[in-house]
Formats: sequence, C-alpha cells, structure tokens
Amino acid sequence: MEAIIFVAFFLATLAFFLLPNYLRRWKLKLPPGPKPWPIIGNLHLIGTLPHCSFHDLSQKYGPIMQLYFGSSPVVILSSPKMAEIMLKENDVLFALRPKTAAGKYTTYNYSDMTWSSYGPYWAQLRKICLMEIFSAKRLDAFQYIRVEEMHKLVKSLYKSSGTPVLLKDDLMKLTFNVIGRIVLGKSYLDDEVDDSVIKPEEFKFMFEELFVLNGVYNIGDFIPWLGVFDLQGYVKRMKDVSKKLDKFLEIVIDQHNEVRKKSDVNAEDYVAKDMVDVLLQLADDEDVQVKLHRDGVKAFTQDLLAGGTESSATSIEWGLSEMLKNPNTFEMASEELDRIIGKERWVEEKDIQNLPYIEAISKEILRLHPVAPLLVPHMASQNCKISGYDVLEGTIVLVNTWTIARDPTVWSDPYEFRPERFMGVDIDVKGRDFRILPFGSGRRRCPGYSLGLKLIQLNLANLLHGFTWKLPENMTVEELNMEESFGLSVPRKVPLVAVAEPRLPSHLYA
Ligand code: HEM
Repeated sequence: MEAIIFVAFFLATLAFFLLPNYLRRWKLKLPPGPKPWPIIGNLHLIGTLPHCSFHDLSQKYGPIMQLYFGSSPVVILSSPKMAEIMLKENDVLFALRPKTAAGKYTTYNYSDMTWSSYGPYWAQLRKICLMEIFSAKRLDAFQYIRVEEMHKLVKSLYKSSGTPVLLKDDLMKLTFNVIGRIVLGKSYLDDEVDDSVIKPEEFKFMFEELFVLNGVYNIGDFIPWLGVFDLQGYVKRMKDVSKKLDKFLEIVIDQHNEVRKKSDVNAEDYVAKDMVDVLLQLADDEDVQVKLHRDGVKAFTQDLLAGGTESSATSIEWGLSEMLKNPNTFEMASEELDRIIGKERWVEEKDIQNLPYIEAISKEILRLHPVAPLLVPHMASQNCKISGYDVLEGTIVLVNTWTIARDPTVWSDPYEFRPERFMGVDIDVKGRDFRILPFGSGRRRCPGYSLGLKLIQLNLANLLHGFTWKLPENMTVEELNMEESFGLSVPRKVPLVAVAEPRLPSHLYA
C-alpha cells in the first residue's frame, strides 16, 4: 500500500512539473518538418552532404522547417525572406552559437571568435580584428603582401607549365602565407627556409582536418549520453588535430615573446608588429573588460589562420573547375583582360573595378559554391516567432544558402555557371542582398569578407591573365568530377588537377 502511495505521489509530482511545459508546447505553432524518431530525432535523414539533405527536405516542407538532431530542435531557413527575418530583423536574438564538441576541443573551450558566445568577450575580439586587420587603412597597408604572394604563385605555376598541377596546394600556400604574414608576422611556410617549424603537408592536413571537424554532426552533441562512446571517432580526431595545432601555436607565441623581451623598450612601449603582438599586449593588460588568456591568444590566432586560408583557396579552385566545364567563360575573361590590362603587366587590385566580368565570375563562384553553405550554426537566445512559427530558446538555426542559390524563383537557370547574370546589375555579396549570402549577414557576418574578396578577385584575375587552362590530356570535361565534400566549408571532393600554359611574355614571370 505504501508503495502505491509513493508511486502515485511521484507521478503527481512529475505531472505537476512537466504538464505546464507539455501544454505550452502543445499550443505552440512549430515550423513544419518530418516526424522525429525516438532518441535520434531526424538524424537518420541527414546524408554525407547535409546541405543537400536539407535542400531535398525543404522542397517538401518549405522555406522554414524544423528537424530534431537527437532531441535538439534545429530550424532550417531556405529562402531570402526567411534569411532576412532572421539575420536582419532578429539579428541579436540569433547571434548565439551552439556549444559543440568542435568548439570545446578545437578552439580551447570556445575561446576563439567563431564559437564564442555572443557577449563582451566575442565583441572584444571582433573589435580588435576589425581595427587591426580589416579596416580599409590596414587592408591597404597589407596590399604589398597580397601582391608579393600572388607573384610567387604565378612564378611557381610558370615553372610547372605544361604539366598537371594540384592547384589547391598552391592556393592554400598562397592564402596561408598572406594571412600568416599579417597575423604571425611571417609566412612560416617558406620553401627557402630549411628549419621551418611547419611542413606544407602538415599544415594542409591540419587546416583541412580542422574545417572538416568543425562542420561534422557529432552524435554526442545531440544525444549527450552517447558522447562518451565517441561512436564516429570525431572527438578523438578533434583532440589529435588540436594537439598538433597547439604545438605550432606555442612556438609562434614563444617566438613573439622572445622578440618582445629582447627589444630595448618597456613592454608597454613595444610597438606591435603583427596581430599576435597585439593579442599578447592585450593579454598583458589587466584593465581590459574581459581578460584574454594565453589560450584565447592561441584560439583567436588559429581562427584567423583557418578562416583566412581555406575559404578563398576553395573558392578559386571551384571557380577554375566551373570555367573548365564552361570554356566560353575563359574566352570572355581573356577578352576583357587583354582589352583593359594588355599583355605587358599583371592585374592590380585597383584594376578590379574596371573588370566587370572578373567581378561577375567571383560573384557567380560564391553563389554556386558558397564556402559555408549553412553558414556557421546560430542559436536562438529566447523564444520568438519567425513568419508566424514559434522558434524556441536554444533552437539551432541554419540558413541554407546553397538552396537559396538554387531556387528557380530567385535565379534563372540556377544550376548553371553563368557569370553574365551579374553583369550590369548591382547585386551585393557582402550581406545586404539576401539572395546571395556567402559571408552571412548581421552581427555574425564574416569579419574577413573584404580580405576574402580581394584574395579571390586578384588571384583569379591573374591566373586567367597569366595562363590558359586545360584538363590533363587523359581527361575529358565530362570526366571532371564536380562532387562536394562536407565540413564547415565545402571543398571539391576530388581536388582539381589542371595544366597551365603561360600567355604573357616570359619576362613577366621572372
Ligand atoms: C572567401 C572568403 C570567405 C568566406 C566565403 C567566408 C565565409 C564566412 C561565413 C559564411 C561565416 C559565418 C557567418 C555566420 O555565421 O553568419 C564566416 C565567419 C567568420 N569568418 Fe569568414 N569567410 C571568408 C574569409 C575569411 C577570412 C579571410 C577570415 C579571417 C582572416 C575569416 C574569418 C572569419 C571568422 C573569425 C568568422 C566568425 C565570425 C563570428 O562568429 O563572429 N573569414 N565566414
């Protein structure tokens, strides 16, 4: 009898606490979506390319739909209007990031900018990088670095002209050297230096692995009690790559501290030479609003290196691949370059505004191959409504820019690579036009968009100006594989191998 009373009391208590919540949820108008399975939710519907799985589901459930990853609600927005409601009208509400294993294990417990929560720490990092790297003045001051590295790239391609090259390797080296020289003060990937602390293959592996692991859906993030088993092996890989990156970042910081110590001036009078110096000075400062620790310096440095390396290289690789599939685009680009630049010099950054077709190619690449097709996940900080649907606090929100780019009501012939669609029309790619959002929009928009665009435009223009491109002899255009592989960015599944032949006088490559 006592046991029955105890069970009845227990159930009544449970009902008292759970019922109001249940009734509240029952009255809510949640976005449409597939019925979730117990425990896994809708995880079984997500394939190896999640943006494509979401694309297919959105064709059935519409531009706002709700899925469950385990028991976590995830809202996916797939139209310009929905993206605008989220990223413009409710920007602050969705400025949080979810807590994932990737953020914990690969960015020193969310100490970088990308995975840190929206708040004073994030704002401090964002302000520093906008002032120290991405202001118009700073970007101009670093122009010589972009030009020098572009020259190294064309020189290296000239040496291997006529033979097949794995273009991504050269592009990653270029972008890493540019961002490395800005952030670390030197390239750290110098062929001429024997004792370099990082080998090109190591660096390529580390940053590619970092991008993959920051984009994967780790089951333990959504079904926490399965987390300890690390069923997909992702957490182990995160810890491994983080250890390797940490070794490199420790060397970088030690070297910077050494130089600071050896200089004749006091620490407070030392003039910062690069971004790491700026961060170390900030870490020394006891009066800042939010203290920056050594881990924060490493996490943020890594953030900038990763953000600056993979994205532009991936975009240029996709661009040349699309052009090889659509050879008429090479003719249009060469015609423009020969007419405006001529054959006796390289393209400079200031020329880009006079090269509308090159600009149009860059935009078309970012439309058809957005580097981060789902942006970085956002999270709702409180209950709110989008288009009449309830979105609950803690819901993860993804914007599928890949679907928006393929919407026939937004773009004509959306699957075709047609740069002409951007000719004579002023379509912004920096977050003001919600039909094309390669850099996101609002508070969490990519802070590096201007550097990213400069890298794509300058290098693409000179790769097209300096060389004619073809596939290796034994490969036809039909055989060129255009499949994607998924991570935080979406690079080619099979790296592009192509043959470059010089098209300018030989003295220009010297
Ligand atoms: C083609 C070049 C690039 C593309 C397409 C790109 C794209 C993006 C996207 C889509 C986001 C997420 C926006 C969101 O969550 O709403 C992002 C965030 C970010 N990007 Fe970029 N990016 C590029 C270049 C760069 C560069 C050059 C850097 C730095 C050197 C950089 C650093 C970052 C950082 C730190 C964030 C996180 C911002 C935050 O959470 O507040 N990116 N980027």
